[in-house]
Amino acid sequence: MADHDLVLWECADGVATLRLNRPKALNALDRETLRALDAALDRVDDDAGVRAVIITGAGDRAFCAGADIAAMAAMGPMEGHPYCRLGHEVLARVEDLRVPVVAALGGAALGGGLELALACDLIVAGERAKVGLPEITLGLIPGFGGTQRLVRRIGLGPARRLIYLGAVIGAADALALGVVDQVVPDDRLAEDAAALARELAGRAPVALRHAKRATRAAVETSLGAGLWLEMEAFAATFASEDRVEGLHAFLEKRKPSWKGR
Ligand code: CAA
Repeated sequence: MADHDLVLWECADGVATLRLNRPKALNALDRETLRALDAALDRVDDDAGVRAVIITGAGDRAFCAGADIAAMAAMGPMEGHPYCRLGHEVLARVEDLRVPVVAALGGAALGGGLELALACDLIVAGERAKVGLPEITLGLIPGFGGTQRLVRRIGLGPARRLIYLGAVIGAADALALGVVDQVVPDDRLAEDAAALARELAGRAPVALRHAKRATRAAVETSLGAGLWLEMEAFAATFASEDRVEGLHAFLEKRKPSWKGR
C-alpha cells in the first residue's frame, strides 16, 4: 500500500475525517502510518476551511490496535526511543490542532490506539469498542503518551489499575470511568461522530480555539496560572469580531454568522 493510502482523507461541511487504513493489521501504528498521519495533519493545518476533525479507523474490528507489534519485535534495543518519539511528536500535533478533534472508536482501541484517542478532544465509542493499555502484557509500558494523558483524563488510581493490569474493558465500563465521553450503537458511530463534529464546526472558531487552550491548561498548570490564562483567553475572544456578532445575534434573535476572527 502506498504510504499516502495509510491514512485516508475526506472533507465535508468543514469536517475533515482522517481514517487509519491498515485494516489487516487492525490499523496498527507502524512508522509509515504515523508519518502518513503526520502528513494528514499538515493538510488540516493548511486548510482554513477545516473547522473540526474526526479520527477513525478503517474496517469494523478496530479503531487502532496500538503500536505495531511485529515492527517492534524486529527492532533493536536502541530503536525504542526514536519510535516512541515519533509517536509522541505526531500525537502532540493531534492535541495541538487549532480545531477540535473527535476520536470515533469502532472495535479495539488498545495501546497506542487508545493513546491516539486520548490526544483527541472528545472520544465517541461504538458499543462493541474495547479499550485499554495492555502494553504491560508485552513487557512494555504505554509509549505514546498513555501514562500521562490517561492519568489526566481519569485520575491516578483508575489509570494505574488499567496500566498495571493491562486490562481491556468494554465501552460501558470505559464510559463509567470517563475514558470515553459517549457510547453509541455501532451502526450509528460514523453518523453520530459526524453530527458531533459538524456541531463543533458550527461553533465560534476563535472561542472554540481558546476554550481548547484554556481547558487544556486546567490539567497542565497550577490553578493560578490556569485562571490567568483564562482571563487572557476571555479577553482575546472579547476582542474578536465573533464576539460582536454573537452578542448582537442574540439581541436581534437571529443565528450568528461566524467570521472566525
Ligand atoms: N500490531 C501489529 N499487528 C497487529 C496488532 C498490533 N498492535 N494487533 C493486531 N495485529 C494483527 C494480528 O497480528 C493479526 O495479523 P494476522 O492476521 O497476520 O495474524 C491481525 O492484526 C488480526 O489480529 P487478531 O487475529 O489478533 O484479531 P483478534 O480479533 O483475535 O484480536 C485484538 C483483536 C484483541 C485487538 C488483538 O489483535 C490484540 O490484542 N492486539 C494487540 C493489542 C495490543 O497489545 N496493543 C498494544 C501494542 S503495544 C503499544 O501500543 C506500545 C505503545 O504504547 C507505543
